[in-house]
Amino acid sequence: MQTDSRGVEVRDLGHVDRAAAVAVIARGMEDNPIHLAAYRGDAAWRRRAHGRVVGALVAASPSLHLLGAARSGALVAVAGSAPPGTCQPTGKARLRLLTAAVSLGPATASRLVRWNAGWARHDPEEPHMHLGPVAVDAGLRGHGLGGLLLREHVRRLDAVGAVGFLETDRPRAVGFYERFGYVVVEQADVLGVPCWFMRRPAAS
Ligand SMILES: CC(C)(COP(=O)(O)OP(=O)(O)OC[C@H]1O[C@@H](n2cnc3c(N)ncnc32)[C@H](O)[C@@H]1OP(=O)(O)O)[C@@H](O)C(=O)NCCC(=O)NCCS
Repeated sequence: MQTDSRGVEVRDLGHVDRAAAVAVIARGMEDNPIHLAAYRGDAAWRRRAHGRVVGALVAASPSLHLLGAARSGALVAVAGSAPPGTCQPTGKARLRLLTAAVSLGPATASRLVRWNAGWARHDPEEPHMHLGPVAVDAGLRGHGLGGLLLREHVRRLDAVGAVGFLETDRPRAVGFYERFGYVVVEQADVLGVPCWFMRRPAAS
């Protein structure tokens, strides 16, 4: 656990933090372009729908690691990461995710499946630490919280010499990730939304 001069605490999240982490991710991404395309509806619906999907992902993926930033004890930013070989859910986890998707209606479920397939197509074959989701509460963006999480994430990548990978649907976030050594390796439209696929080389 680390606390910066503003009292922001960066720490690994555990089982008891899961519900709060899912809530940060669901509300933090409600206006992302690919969420608008996949879930449609209003912001409250997108938040609820994504909360259900991320809730299923977190519950079904014991290897998914969650790093969080808390201010005055309240979780305000989260970065998830999947260790090498675990970024695509298999077996029961896949079924649980599909069940969550189907519960949102057939049209939304079909878009979610195409979104997942559209991103998975770009997953590198090489072992990599897959970053995402990353979300900071809307009113607190641009104040370095995402940077705190990324700094810790890449420090850990470098400590074990791992390759990093992520995808983003926000043009502004591309520059954010570039600051931490990620480089755009591919760009493709998924659900009609421009997406960037970024790789961070292993530290030598
Ligand atoms: C992208 C995100 C995680 C960055 O976290 P943050 O705490 O805002 O980032 P920091 O304050 O450490 O760094 C700010 C930099 O990030 C970039 N940035 C990207 N999106 C931004 C946003 N919505 N608001 C403010 N800055 C943003 C800017 O380039 C900014 O650089 P600047 O200071 O030169 O303008 C955060 O803005 C966020 O949660 N956005 C919505 C969800 C999302 O898009 N997640 C990433 C999808 S992969």
